[in-house]
Amino acid sequence: MNLKEKLLLGPGPSMVDPRVIEAMQQGMFGYLDPDFMNVLDDLADKIKTVYGTSNVTMAIPGTGSAGMEAGLSSLLEPGEKVIMCVYGFFCERMVDMAERIGASVIPIRADWGKPFPAELLEKEISKHEKVKMVTAIHGETSTGIKQDLKQLSQITKNHEALFMVDAVTTLGGTNIEVDKTGIDYIYSASQKCIGAPPGLSPVAISDAALDSIRARKTKPSSWYLDLSLLADYWGEKKIYHHTTPVSMIFALHKAYELLLSEGLENRFRRHEANAGALIAGLAKLQIEVIPPDGSRLNQITPVWIPEGINDDAVRSKLAADYSIEIGKGLGDFSGKVWRIGLMGESSKREYVLKLLSALEDIFNYYGFEIASETATRAANEYYESSDLKSSATDSQF
Ligand SMILES: Cc1ncc(COP(=O)(O)O)c(C=O)c1O
Repeated sequence: MNLKEKLLLGPGPSMVDPRVIEAMQQGMFGYLDPDFMNVLDDLADKIKTVYGTSNVTMAIPGTGSAGMEAGLSSLLEPGEKVIMCVYGFFCERMVDMAERIGASVIPIRADWGKPFPAELLEKEISKHEKVKMVTAIHGETSTGIKQDLKQLSQITKNHEALFMVDAVTTLGGTNIEVDKTGIDYIYSASQKCIGAPPGLSPVAISDAALDSIRARKTKPSSWYLDLSLLADYWGEKKIYHHTTPVSMIFALHKAYELLLSEGLENRFRRHEANAGALIAGLAKLQIEVIPPDGSRLNQITPVWIPEGINDDAVRSKLAADYSIEIGKGLGDFSGKVWRIGLMGESSKREYVLKLLSALEDIFNYYGFEIASETATRAANEYYESSDLKSSATDSQF
């Protein structure tokens, strides 16, 4: 194939540590092999630690969307009411999936690029009897918004509904306390802040949510993504369900091992430091960040494309001349927004400086006259002045 290597600074997949790739070369094992089962059990424990939960955990086959679909198709029967907090592109994907399942979907649409106001949920949920579930996204990758979950969870519990959360972008880069927050089902993806290739979705499910699946009147529409069947393989029963993607499990296990050896707090601070430096540099290029301070994700930075700059031309030049990939805007933000991802292994000082330097060159090429090193100097000054400095070096791996 002989493909040229890229520096991935978009919304995922992110860069992968060579040790994670190496772990995939363990050789092949049967999905019920006792040695492999030990790896699986250990991975389930590591997933618990990072989610902050004692709930049942597993890594289901498929990307983040599989985790999303598994939750919606397992937890909702046709006609059951689900209230969905909608404030970006991936929230709309959840709505689409829930509609296909035949649930009675009640979307509450709020502004993109701002946190979802909890009072809207309180107002809506009070109007309905027997709401089965409320859904929210912890980090909306399309807008860069970090959503506070505590209030949404409290309102949901007050109305005796299940609370389902998307942590595709946040897991491994932002603290998530599943048990303290009261989350019944949460899913993520292997390829962002966790630092493995795409293909697995780490999830955690509460006993209440599992019981509700076992008490269903109708079978879940998806057999493959039925969380109760999957839990019977990952739990003590170890009942065959599907042929587990063994090599991907090895990769994910190694990625979690590296994550935990770095330490969660260190990892969060590293993401914070590098996002801060990136933003300091972008400001010198007149590039404005979309999310307001206080609700901004550190792992993805969506920005408005400055007037007079062509979206495709800049991204193509970055890819062709600098081998750097950044993300484009999605949905309503298409053509207006870039999304710069510094997630997991992609969150490094070296990469921040490389991107800013490339953008300086490209802006000059298109006649924007940026004095050389303006943006990189601002980023370096940020690193030097910030009390996060010690965590802003290359990852501690
Ligand atoms: C918040 C969020 N949810 C869900 C998804 C879908 O995940 P995947 O592309 O891994 O299926 C993404 C992908 O970027 C995402 O950012």
